Amino acid sequence: MTFQTFYDEMSRKLEGFVPDIEMRYKAELAYEINRIKEERNAVILGHNYMEPALYNMVCDITGDSLELSRAAARTQKDIIVFCGVRFMAETAKILNPEKTVLLPSEKAGCSLAASITAQDVRTLKAQFPGVPVVTYVNTYADVKAESDICCTSGNAVEVVNSLETDTVIFLPDEYLAKNVARETNKKIIFPDTKGALEHGDYQMIGWRGHCEVHEKFTVQDVLNVRKQYPDVLVLAHPECSPEVIEASDFSGSTAAMIRHVKQSRAPRYLLLTECAMGDNIAAANKDKEMLRLCSVRCPHMNQITLEDTLESLRKTQYVIEVPEDIRSRAFRAIERMIAIR
Ligand code: 13P
Ligand code: SF4
Repeated sequence: MTFQTFYDEMSRKLEGFVPDIEMRYKAELAYEINRIKEERNAVILGHNYMEPALYNMVCDITGDSLELSRAAARTQKDIIVFCGVRFMAETAKILNPEKTVLLPSEKAGCSLAASITAQDVRTLKAQFPGVPVVTYVNTYADVKAESDICCTSGNAVEVVNSLETDTVIFLPDEYLAKNVARETNKKIIFPDTKGALEHGDYQMIGWRGHCEVHEKFTVQDVLNVRKQYPDVLVLAHPECSPEVIEASDFSGSTAAMIRHVKQSRAPRYLLLTECAMGDNIAAANKDKEMLRLCSVRCPHMNQITLEDTLESLRKTQYVIEVPEDIRSRAFRAIERMIAIR
């Protein structure tokens, strides 16, 4: 494809979503990324939160955490460039260790992954012996290695229901755990909840990790927007608090939100999740209006730029490594999840 054809296609798709003044500059970067990608036999996986030019013009496969894990496991390419955050790139390495996995920025972390350590999980297992540990994929490899099974926002309820015991340890997102506990009819406690342990009246043990983006949305935000736009359909990611989920019309993974907007007929939508995803959905559904609260951004996902993705391919940086003893144990927990859904 010539540069001009590429530029025309990008302008058609992203007019209004990429400022005119940046269109040519971004098209040049994206065009060059695609050229080197071919040359190096690489695949680019992009999370739904990537900015529109990256998401639409260079990623070979886009999706939520679960979809991207599956894609990472089956790719035949030599290099996987992961346009997402570190725990996602680590998951790709765990599933496909023969490949070179690159994360374009060293700063792309996650507040949930940072909220718990492998030692914390070992302490909980000693406190609740025999209780299976379900760990959200938004954790680092050594935490996954201490777990029986992983889950994502797209399959958490199925994963919990697949276990044979009534009681589970569910880590580390407090709100996702509470939302899953409600859907699976479990009473949740936290190890710091005074008195709860003595009564033994619980089926889920949680942890108080939070997503620094989704924890900021409030019920008042939903009420304010509904007052202004009574016909708005409100979609919230399950990392939002149970109260916000309750006030919303739909809750699901980022991919489930995208599908819901596509299938629904409402004229306007409020997306309670990272802001860039609203641009990507709006670009694909130009007849529908996306409302977002863009003061809330993910500082980690936002580290991944076109410039860094190009540098990543040019300099083979930043290479993700996971020590084999951790990788093999984390692999079991992720594989077990993938086998379910
Ligand atoms: P999804 O798996 O729903 O894409 O969520 C990942 C994430 O980090 C949300 O903040
Ligand atoms: Fe982590 Fe939240 Fe950013 Fe997702 S949006 S990567 S959960 S900090």
